[in-house]
Amino acid sequence: MKAIVLENYGLPEEVMSLKEVAIPIPKENEVLIKIHTTAVNDYDWSIVRGKPYLYRLMFGVSKPKHPILGMELAGVVDGIGLMVSKLKVGDAVYGDISQFGFGTFAEYICIHEDAVLIKPEELGFETATAIPHASTLALQALRNIGKIRQGHKVLINGGGGGVGTIGLQLARLSNCKVTGVDSEEKLTMMKLLGYDQVIDYKKVDFTKTGEQYDLIVDCKTNKSPFSYLRSLKPTGIYVTIGGSPINLISVLFWSKIFSLFSTKSLQILSLKPNEGLDEIAQLVVQNKISPEIDGPYPLDDTARLIQYFGEGKHKGKVVIKVNGIDQ
Ligand SMILES: NC(=O)c1ccc[n+]([C@@H]2O[C@H](COP(=O)([O-])OP(=O)(O)OC[C@H]3O[C@@H](n4cnc5c(N)ncnc54)[C@H](OP(=O)(O)O)[C@@H]3O)[C@@H](O)[C@H]2O)c1
Repeated sequence: MKAIVLENYGLPEEVMSLKEVAIPIPKENEVLIKIHTTAVNDYDWSIVRGKPYLYRLMFGVSKPKHPILGMELAGVVDGIGLMVSKLKVGDAVYGDISQFGFGTFAEYICIHEDAVLIKPEELGFETATAIPHASTLALQALRNIGKIRQGHKVLINGGGGGVGTIGLQLARLSNCKVTGVDSEEKLTMMKLLGYDQVIDYKKVDFTKTGEQYDLIVDCKTNKSPFSYLRSLKPTGIYVTIGGSPINLISVLFWSKIFSLFSTKSLQILSLKPNEGLDEIAQLVVQNKISPEIDGPYPLDDTARLIQYFGEGKHKGKVVIKVNGIDQ
């Protein structure tokens, strides 16, 4: 089969290439999936470069231990292990497999059957691969932790990315007023998508405008926790989804202290992969929300696409079509 193989840490186009490798054989609890579509995520960009360096402790100190990256897929079960009970050959599946491993930048993958869900028939493969990771991050941040309510005033930092573009639509379903913060090139797309207000983070620091929000969802935590508190209403919630490790540690530390005397709260999301995914899929099928898709692109373009993603040139989810299946 064809796969994008990672040899070393470095820039994607220098260390990843398209290779012919053996089709894997499923272990007892695994399914062999013929991958139709996959997508690029922050993990891919970070693992390829081995940055932040903390990642090397988890993903290989001197060399990456996962030769094939990629963590989102939509495809069809092509073989099953002896103990598989929930899936059968021919089932169309989708999901974020990161809890069980990596390897979706390939024509086939073997993965634990619990890593994927049955794909609703009405959901095309491209759309199905664009929602698992970003939309569950958005749902869990806005609803489970952010306790979003009708009419809330919401700000999404990094609002033009995969999480932000779905987060906006979920917030709009609750009739919220939503401000999106991102780079200038994405602001027009964000306005068209429905943001009430957009802010260019290179020109305006949203924590210094004097505006206060019921909920702030942050995909790029890079300021002090005190700045975020200043931008929250008296019972507001700040949820960080990601950011630099040092800032995340700072949010974690101060969140405990603030909780002793403030009604405002700082929270860190720890993703539960695929939790809420079927609910999101139904919203997509009912045309209530729709992921912003950048692509689809061919598999042999993957290294360039990871670089493109890392440079922030993408809009929404970068989708890769692996096998030429009709959508
Ligand atoms: N909590 C968890 O369990 C968990 C699990 C997996 C992933 N994550 C995290 O979830 C996040 C995924 O977000 P995503 O998929 O939406 O990423 P994304 O598609 O890369 O979007 C992030 C957006 O933020 C913008 N941005 C960059 N720097 C910014 C800044 N200083 N201020 C405001 N916006 C800025 C980027 O635009 P430009 O680059 O053009 O500036 C981009 O449009 C990542 O941080 C990832 O690490 C969390």
